[in-house]
Parts: sequence; C-alpha cells; structure tokens
Amino acid sequence: MAELVITIDGPAGSGKSTAARLLAKKLDAAFLDTGSMYRAVTLAAMKAKIDLNNEKQLLAVLDKNDFKFEAKQDKMLVSINNEDSTEQIRSPEVTANAKYVASSPKVRQRLVQMQRDFAARYDKVVTEGRDQGTVVFPDAIAKFFLIADLAERAQRRQAEQSAKGINESVESIQNALDRRDKSDRGRTVGPLKPAQDAVIINTTDLPIDQVVERLFEIVKTKCSNKN
Ligand code: DC
Repeated sequence: MAELVITIDGPAGSGKSTAARLLAKKLDAAFLDTGSMYRAVTLAAMKAKIDLNNEKQLLAVLDKNDFKFEAKQDKMLVSINNEDSTEQIRSPEVTANAKYVASSPKVRQRLVQMQRDFAARYDKVVTEGRDQGTVVFPDAIAKFFLIADLAERAQRRQAEQSAKGINESVESIQNALDRRDKSDRGRTVGPLKPAQDAVIINTTDLPIDQVVERLFEIVKTKCSNKN
C-alpha cells in the first residue's frame, strides 16, 4: 500500500476532482479518480446492452472486459479493451447510468479492490470519490469531505459543459445534480458521507487555489504530527 494516502470525497461539483488533481501535482503523488472506474464499467455495460439493474450481468461485464486505469501527471487515462475511453466515459448518458453500477454491492466490492491495487503501485496517492475515506482507505493520513451549495455546483458544471461546447440550462443541471446527490447518499453500500475523521471544507465561496492551499497545509500538519 502507498505510504501516503489522502482521500477527498464529496458530491458532484464540489470541486473535489480539480482539488485532488492539483493537490496530487503539488505533492508529486498519483491521482486516482474513482468515479472514472464506475463510469468505465457503465460504458462497457451500455455497449454490451445488458440490464443495468442485473448484478450478475454487471459482474460478467467486469470479467469480460479489460479495464486499465493509468495515472498521468494530471489526469487518469482509461482504456477498455485497449481502446482509449478517457473522454467517452464523460458523456451525459454514462453520467446518468452510473448510478446503477454504483449501487451494486458486488461491483463496488470489486472496484474497491481495484482502487486498493492501484494505490499499492504508488508511494503517494490522492484519491477522490464518495467512499474513499469511509470504506476504501480508512487509514488514510488525511481525509477531506468537500461540499458546496447546489446552485453553485450547478453553475460550475454549466461552465465546464459550455467550455466543451455543450449547452444545458442551469436548472436542468441543478435537477440532475440533485437526483445524483440523492442516489449517492441513499445507497446502502458505500454511500456518500464524510468519514468521522474527515475535515469538511465548504468550497462555495472559496477559489480552487485556496481550497488546494488549505488541503496542502492540513496534509503537511498531519504528516509532521505523524513523524
Ligand atoms: O465523480 P463522478 O461523477 O465521476 O462519479 C461517477 C459515478 O460513480 C457517480 O454516479 C457516483 C459514483 N461513484 C461512487 O459511487 N463511488 C465512488 N468512489 C466514485 C464515484
């Protein structure tokens, strides 16, 4: 297992992906975007045209496809059967369907193992998701839980989308985020919730560089307390 694991959990649009990426860069650590694993399985399941509510069929998708996740300096490359799927897993259809994969306990079990295996390959890892501090890395040296107001998260998502040339109203993005929050918080296995020892940071009015600075200072303090 990596010597240094830092977990960042939180809802979609809370800034956790950007913060995790930038923090990983600052610490010269690998960046693990666990949402991309759920997305990759979702994409493969959609391509196989299986019933997304059928856990057995989802597990077969895991067995039949070759998923690779590779940490690059500031992003994670995803390939499925040697086909680069880094962009495809970000489509709105995959985003909407990922909840089926995320609510399957057995699929989660397998992905949790993949996440631990990934961490074992690096000395330092910054990982982000929903259950990283609670389930996957309970002994992480520093755990963070990022939150932000729903309206602000919707604005951020819209800005991201329009930068990619996708135009969607803030209202419909906000409704979709709200549905995802409910599904993330409500599932029985690996729900979205802060670990007891997580530091909760509200990013609503905090620019991303300040978020990262705050995380960095806390990590430094935790590391020096440990030594
Ligand atoms: O963070 P994201 O939007 O890329 O996540 C995609 C989906 O995967 C979303 O439905 C939440 C789910 N997920 C999860 O259940 N557990 C994680 N550790 C990461 C993501």
